[in-house]
Amino acid sequence: MRIDIITVLPELLRSPFDASILKRAIDKNLVEVHFHNIRDYTDKSYNQVDDYQFGGGAGMVLMIEPIDKCITALTEQRDYDEIIYMTPDGERLNQKISNGLSLSKNIIILCGHYKGVDQRVRDRFITKEISIGDYVLSGGELGAAVLCDTIIRLLPGVLNDETSALTDSFQDGLLAPPVYTRPSEYKGMKVPEVLLSGNFGKIEQWREEQAHLRTEALRPDLLE
Ligand code: ADE
Repeated sequence: MRIDIITVLPELLRSPFDASILKRAIDKNLVEVHFHNIRDYTDKSYNQVDDYQFGGGAGMVLMIEPIDKCITALTEQRDYDEIIYMTPDGERLNQKISNGLSLSKNIIILCGHYKGVDQRVRDRFITKEISIGDYVLSGGELGAAVLCDTIIRLLPGVLNDETSALTDSFQDGLLAPPVYTRPSEYKGMKVPEVLLSGNFGKIEQWREEQAHLRTEALRPDLLE
């Protein structure tokens, strides 16, 4: 899979891809991630990429021309399954969206900044708009990092234990059950007996029950 991220702040985005699971996925060539600085696509002085909004109002807007040039340079080289815009008024990200996107070959992610992008960018180029939650970030970069993390960990071969993404919260519409590790008793707090029993049928049954109880208590909306 190839992910191209278009941003005015590539430096804000690099570190999540430089550690742990995402770095390993890149090192193993399971995913390619490319950063494109919108400023490299402007002819204006001082590398200007934003301007005041027509009609007045606070906040700058990213201009269409450099974004057009960047997206066009990419789409001339290969086909993209989706051109995604990160924005608080997009569709709220969930596991189902990430599962779907993980099947893509090539995607572009455009990060908004300031007041966002000229609406004509959205009308002309964008095939999917995604929000990571009902709050406003300073830009789409952190949202793009979250989106990439949720997608990349699903790619075959990325996680050591192939089954481990399947047992994540949300994969079966439920929250994950509680987990424990050694010691089996700490300051009087004991690990549930069943997990020490070695009876895998019972353990599986207990985990399913716990997943239901947890979902009922914490996220009843998922059961509706
Ligand atoms: N850009 C600003 N806020 C955002 C959000 N909540 N999700 C995605 N991109 C954003």
